Amino acid sequence: AGVTRVVASMEDPNPLVAGKGMALLRKQGVSVASGLLQAESEKLNPGFIKRMKTGMPWVRCKLAMSLDGRTAMASGESVWITGEDARRDVQRLRARSSAVVTGIGTVLADDPSMNVRLTPEELPGVESSAYFRQPLRVVLDSSLRVPENARLFPVEGSVQVIHSRGDDAKARRLREAGADVLKLEGGLDLPRVMGELAEQEINEVLIEAGPTLAGAALKAGVIDELIIYMAPHLMGHQARGLFHLPGLEKMADRIDLRIQDIRPVGRDFRISATVAGE
Ligand SMILES: NC(=O)c1ccc[n+]([C@@H]2O[C@H](COP(=O)([O-])OP(=O)(O)OC[C@H]3O[C@@H](n4cnc5c(N)ncnc54)[C@H](OP(=O)(O)O)[C@@H]3O)[C@@H](O)[C@H]2O)c1
Repeated sequence: AGVTRVVASMEDPNPLVAGKGMALLRKQGVSVASGLLQAESEKLNPGFIKRMKTGMPWVRCKLAMSLDGRTAMASGESVWITGEDARRDVQRLRARSSAVVTGIGTVLADDPSMNVRLTPEELPGVESSAYFRQPLRVVLDSSLRVPENARLFPVEGSVQVIHSRGDDAKARRLREAGADVLKLEGGLDLPRVMGELAEQEINEVLIEAGPTLAGAALKAGVIDELIIYMAPHLMGHQARGLFHLPGLEKMADRIDLRIQDIRPVGRDFRISATVAGE
């Protein structure tokens, strides 16, 4: 084609591919440079890059809270904390994720379907439904308490239930309801669960769970990014907090965060933060 110079922003981190295309071009006498706007380009694709480099997916944990940091009333009621715009924003976060992970506590309390309910026209960069795939929905449920008639199952897209000590008959019934059931012997250790998802070529994971699983994921160090939607109301001291972090009692034990971005989304605010020191 007569091209004499190619400028790339980064090398493909996939070891099977890395640098091969560039080497081929150079061999043909084309001048090749790489690294232009590399940091910006890496931000577009954090999941694939992390999985290629570490064998783990990029994990976001999304939570909705009141201005006083509460995520559900003492009764468990939590629908809806944020407004319509924030919920639409969450739909877009789901749509860009390869998997959405929740805990059995949320399934039993809210019976969510956890699918993407936007049309292709409402999803940036998606030209038609042919280019869109529902994320895998994953329930972490050690003893297979998820009901076969949960709203997760009948909607379009795949559901995987990961357990460690559920009985075989229940596993069979869940398979009949359409779920893929995966048993991890020895317990649902979260780094291992994330490693399993990476094995399934899951690049970006969105955890949408209650304080038990969100706290355990924070403690296990599997979260790369916290995305917190803050609504302008107060839920009071009896309502439940964001993360269960047993053993955190002293100021010295606080988990430091680095806020990366804050922006209004309708009447709410979206805060993106990373765990400091990671
Ligand atoms: N505001 C929000 O953003 C938001 C989002 C989601 C839910 N919620 C609310 O949160 C409440 C439910 O919270 P929750 O804390 O009870 O439920 P959860 O965090 O969704 O699920 C917790 C359960 O997950 C299971 N699990 C499996 N593997 C685990 C692991 N490695 N670490 C920790 N847990 C693991 C455990 O049950 P087993 O041991 O039996 O497997 C555990 O009890 C509901 O009221 C819901 O409305 C709020």
